[in-house]
Amino acid sequence: VTSILTDTHGRTHNYLRISLSEKCNLRCTYCMPHDGIPLSPRSNLMTADEIEAFAKVFVANGVDKIRLTGGEPLVRKDFTDILRRLSNLPVRLSITTNALLTHRYIDDFKRYGLNDINVSLDSLDAEKFKLITRRDQYKKAFENINQLVTEGFYVKINAVLMKDFNEDEIVDFIKLTKNQDINVRFIEFMPFDGNEWNKNKLVSQAEIINRVTNYFGIEALKPLANEQNFTARNFKVEGFKGSFGIISSVTNPFCDSCNRIRLTADGKLKNCLFSNKETNLLKAFREGEKLEELIDLALNKKKAVRAGMTDFDQLTNPDLHNNNRSMIAIGG
Ligand code: GTP
Ligand code: 5AD
Ligand code: SF4
Repeated sequence: VTSILTDTHGRTHNYLRISLSEKCNLRCTYCMPHDGIPLSPRSNLMTADEIEAFAKVFVANGVDKIRLTGGEPLVRKDFTDILRRLSNLPVRLSITTNALLTHRYIDDFKRYGLNDINVSLDSLDAEKFKLITRRDQYKKAFENINQLVTEGFYVKINAVLMKDFNEDEIVDFIKLTKNQDINVRFIEFMPFDGNEWNKNKLVSQAEIINRVTNYFGIEALKPLANEQNFTARNFKVEGFKGSFGIISSVTNPFCDSCNRIRLTADGKLKNCLFSNKETNLLKAFREGEKLEELIDLALNKKKAVRAGMTDFDQLTNPDLHNNNRSMIAIGG
């Protein structure tokens, strides 16, 4: 079946990531520039109504998984309203959050069937957490993650690794999976506007595997049936309940199985995380235009790999990657 969500490389996009906010209650160095970003005027942000309308268009054309992102999605005052609206659609709902506010939403998550919760947590050391996030909130984050696990949500922890900073915590993170069925994912630090990325800060997939195998015996896991279009390649330490994964967008991209499209909080469609060629769906929608054609056009321009930055040297060239937004304004 040909769909407007199939691109010229034959990839079908059934996974929509919607950013709900450009704001965050943390200020992670790898995500937000030191002085923050200029925020869009409120009138340029998608309302709950508009988010629902967009989601319906995508679902009618084959999207069956929606992830809510940010900034921090839970800082949005009408979060519950948005969740309720999306819960009426035939999609698997998920969220990526820093967990600082999850305790307020446990009942809503359950009521509206949001079971998959990815949590950003880059250090298990309160001092380092503070250095990365520029906020002293480690205790709350960790407490809330435990609450989510106890309450039965399927939790994945996202840890962005940075050289000489938290790479020595890889083993400690994996130990979290010993007695709990959680998945910890180590993420290669990716370059975005204003995040002071450089090659020397990167901890590569190969280095991660090296560190882990110096310490544990591991086995590779096959992708789960519902995760053929993975970001993470997953492994398990023998005898551990949970698992861990590596997201290697820099040294080993997984674009050939990409099934993701993104809506930014200001209603722009991004056909790739790394693409700066955006389609203003919100403007078109407000002017009464049909969206299908615009979506089709946008997807047909999608490049095979990382918005055209095929090899490592291209991705690491600041002239190329700095044309994109800051991560906080994309949503990951
Ligand atoms: P699942 O639905 O659990 O597979 O989540 P996810 O891994 O897609 O999403 P999450 O928001 O937890 O992101 C984890 C890491 O993967 C972040 O660093 C994201 O930027 C990165 N990521 C998510 N989607 C993509 C993608 O399409 N391409 C690339 N290169 N990286 C991605
Ligand atoms: N490189 C890799 N991952 C990043 N994230 C944010 N910025 C970066 C970056 N520069 C991750 C966060 C969050 C997810 C949505 O994206 O850790 O979990
Ligand atoms: Fe898809 Fe772009 Fe991510 Fe590659 S870099 S997996 S093409 S979104």
